[in-house]
Amino acid sequence: MAEKVAVGEPLLEIKDLKLEFITEEGTVEALDGVNLTVKKGEIHGLIGETGCGKSVTSLATLGLLDNNARVRGGEILYKGIDLLELKEEELRKGIRGNEISMIFQNPSTSLNPVYDVGNQIRESILLYQTKDKKEASRLVLSELDRVKLPDPEDISTKFPHELSGGMKQRVMIAMMLACQSNLLIADEPTTALDVSIQAQFLKVLKELKEREELSILYITHDMAVVSEICDVVTVMYGGQIAETADVHTLFKNPSHPYAKGLIYSVPGVMQSIDDFETIPGTVPRLISPPSGCRFHPRCEYAKKICQKKKPELEEIEKDHYVACYFWEEVE
Ligand SMILES: Nc1ncnc2c1ncn2[C@@H]1O[C@H](COP(=O)(O)OP(=O)(O)O)[C@@H](O)[C@H]1O
Ligand SMILES: [Mg+2]
Repeated sequence: MAEKVAVGEPLLEIKDLKLEFITEEGTVEALDGVNLTVKKGEIHGLIGETGCGKSVTSLATLGLLDNNARVRGGEILYKGIDLLELKEEELRKGIRGNEISMIFQNPSTSLNPVYDVGNQIRESILLYQTKDKKEASRLVLSELDRVKLPDPEDISTKFPHELSGGMKQRVMIAMMLACQSNLLIADEPTTALDVSIQAQFLKVLKELKEREELSILYITHDMAVVSEICDVVTVMYGGQIAETADVHTLFKNPSHPYAKGLIYSVPGVMQSIDDFETIPGTVPRLISPPSGCRFHPRCEYAKKICQKKKPELEEIEKDHYVACYFWEEVE
């Protein structure tokens, strides 16, 4: 998949994705028509309370869903190709790692404890960049340098347990870069890091975006992180998309009642989504979720129609999408 996508053009387009999980207790209606577009060169934040479908959306993109998942409709277009149509082998050889890579919450689980980090990065380079072993060893050092790890020669000989959390996180990014992927999906990657290491990590991501036109789908709970690094933000609720807007618009003028609740509920500098309590009620269980707009039981603006029919995303101004019948009443 050598095809190039120009900066600002869609790289990943998830369209009307419907997905459920079959469980003993019943069917979990996890995603109810998710629409999400990540453009080339942008950092796209995906936010919402625990259980709203953020991880499921990203795992679906990589073809890494649990066995009990059923896709009921929609498409996941990457460079125009529907990933849902690809076979596991095609995803493994053609997509995961070399086009789309993912970093998870805990970097230790992604690094192999029995190899030094130089060897692990070299493996990726040998797979995706060159078959020449000498050249690969040289590239290891430049990959470590790229993520601003001091003294690459020394670091390359270290085992994961010899590195701090922040350093491991950077080694992960270096491995990801070695694959030369175009899209990075980061699922709450800083949750396990302390604040100063998190700041360094965000800086590295930002620089990579600017230098290498990397696209990032950044899943987080942390509103401060969102305002720090995201260009565009999508707010999810109960397996539905509530709103998508550029970060300034969303923070200044959230139009979906749920987005408004999220942004105004945490006093002062917004911290974690899990801290807020001013929206009454709790996240619905997704076995028999609320009908229509799933937020309606908690929404102060809700009327009859909200229970009856799910509101579609509407473009209320350029690149600003809201799924609410009454967004004009939200101030
Ligand atoms: N394998 C599974 N079986 C049943 N339900 C699942 C499974 N994986 C995820 N879910 C459900 O899907 C919903 C979305 O989960 P998830 O994407 O992990 O939420 P988030 O990442 O936003 O916290 C939740 O209700 C969760 O319980
Ligand atoms: Mg999650």
